[in-house]
Amino acid sequence: MVEPHLPKRMTAAGGSPYSAAMTQHDTIAVLDFGGQYVHLIATKIRSLGVHAEIRDPDDPVESFRHYKGIILSGSPSLSAFDDEAGWSRGILDLGIPVLGFCFGHQEIAKHSGGKVEHTRREYGAATLRIIHDSPIFAGLSREETVWMSHGDTVTELPPGFVELGYSIGGTDRSHDHRNAAIASEALRQYGLQFHPEVDDTPGGLTMLRNFAIEICGARADWRVGDQVEERCAAIRDQVGDRHVLLLVSGGVDSTVAALLFLRALGAERLHLLHIDNGLMRKNESAGVDAKLRELGLGPSLRTVDASNDFLAALEGVVDPEQKRKAIGDTFIQVFEREARTLDLSNVMLGQGTIYPDTIETGGTKRADLIKTHHNRVPLVQEMIAQGRVIEPLADLYKVEVRELGAALGLDPASIDRHPFPGPGLGIRVACAREDGDWDEARIRTDVAEALRGTGLTGLPLPVRSVGVKADLRSYEHPVLLTGPYPGWEAITEIAISLAKRVDGINRCLFEVSGRPVTEARPAPATVTRERLSLLRELDAIVMAALERHGLMKTVWQCPTVLVPVSLNGKGRELVVVRPVLSERGMTARPAEPTAECIREIVEKISSYEPVSAIAIDVTTKPPATIEWE
Ligand code: XMP
Repeated sequence: MVEPHLPKRMTAAGGSPYSAAMTQHDTIAVLDFGGQYVHLIATKIRSLGVHAEIRDPDDPVESFRHYKGIILSGSPSLSAFDDEAGWSRGILDLGIPVLGFCFGHQEIAKHSGGKVEHTRREYGAATLRIIHDSPIFAGLSREETVWMSHGDTVTELPPGFVELGYSIGGTDRSHDHRNAAIASEALRQYGLQFHPEVDDTPGGLTMLRNFAIEICGARADWRVGDQVEERCAAIRDQVGDRHVLLLVSGGVDSTVAALLFLRALGAERLHLLHIDNGLMRKNESAGVDAKLRELGLGPSLRTVDASNDFLAALEGVVDPEQKRKAIGDTFIQVFEREARTLDLSNVMLGQGTIYPDTIETGGTKRADLIKTHHNRVPLVQEMIAQGRVIEPLADLYKVEVRELGAALGLDPASIDRHPFPGPGLGIRVACAREDGDWDEARIRTDVAEALRGTGLTGLPLPVRSVGVKADLRSYEHPVLLTGPYPGWEAITEIAISLAKRVDGINRCLFEVSGRPVTEARPAPATVTRERLSLLRELDAIVMAALERHGLMKTVWQCPTVLVPVSLNGKGRELVVVRPVLSERGMTARPAEPTAECIREIVEKISSYEPVSAIAIDVTTKPPATIEWE
């Protein structure tokens, strides 16, 4: 189970004024027990046009009375062992329709007097045989493919519940999993052992629609594009007669927030600050300035060059979390300095924070700290506590922010921009000290063993990068794969299996520049002006190649990363290109670049003197994250 050691979220959508302002929309609460698909549940419900909000199961029962329906998520915790005994179970007695998945299903059964036991694990695709009609399965066949991932099972039904279906386990029926779907139509409570929210349950969206719209009777009127006026009213309410100073990076989130503030408050009370932190891409700050002016935001805009402040704060820092903190704190210092020169004593800090940002910082009790986003560093947390931060997009997912942007007249090119992290290139210039103690020999042997028969060689690198494994942060070694290219499917499968089979690694790279790589040494380095300039050039080459080869739209994001290692005594920067496919950034698959695109990248980048080799990051998220730090 994940340790509940983190502070409660300070603003996530449950408590955000924006969700409060949205109360005219029927809403489904998703109780977050820490399962990895919590966001998927909320986004799928929202995709049906019904507002969904992620809530903490420990919140007071009374605060759930206004919901049209409640969904209990899965969890890394085990129901059979009463892992989460303390949650507000009274929520189940409110008379509101309830649907539970996996852990949530078991908790529903237990609450009404059923029995849950730790049993044989069931994992992956299974066939659900439906034996009892129920509105939850309206429109579906008698047999449905569903996605299972559990070790506990409801072994005795609670009184008043019926078994709606079981999962078929082999031809002799000896492995059937009973009670895979249960219900009490009288209580309007439904438990599904499987996960209808994942795409591997093809009928899942129908089940969610049946629950939200038919059983709960929720109106499907949640369309973010229609909410411009109500969001503006909510902003005016929260800001009162104060001014707002918004940091704008040029990314879609802060640009949409700026357009919304402009509409709500007018140019006189909106102050946009673009901080050139020296961590931007090539020519980016000038481009951002021009774009914001073109959008009519010019009268509110000020651009300041604070690159010296950021470089000074990053001097000598190697640890990724410390780098993120240094960048986040410097943003706030520069912000406070600028606010003083503008004499805005009565100012609120505006941020374009979106929903997942608040969650991945350990924003909920049960989620582990994967990375601290710069908009959730302690100084910002303090300002949140003082009521001095306004985040009008904090309840939205990226696709919804884009929809709102379109409604505000933002052009498609700005809307479809690849996401770019707040700490910018600062977290793509990886840092390293001298060779420290690490498990090199053991990892090498295990990697060699795991790669046997693939024709590839794997060299574990003496640096570490951030990843996420079983919902927990990891900080482990990448493995550089070399050898004849086995094809995209094979290389990505090898990456998945290596990270599973070898402890201590969370990322795989495939070398594409044809350099000999049998030995890797760290080339101690931190973030410097020179390394940033180099990365800016290389990143521009990669972006231009993606554009030229028609990959810009299919690829969701493509960080280029400098990794300070020398290979076979040559060079000091391994250049890693990380094209990914993703929908929300919460999970990702590596995207296949075309051979011509790779050739162009290699040709252009190889000539830079510090480059030791070029590699494509072929890891999914999890176990790696999209960014390296
Ligand atoms: P990871 O690396 O956690 O990233 O897989 C998921 C998405 O979030 C972006 N990202 C950030 N965005 N501030 C941001 O505004 C941050 O500190 C930050 N860190 C990561 C990342 O680029 C990807 O799109």
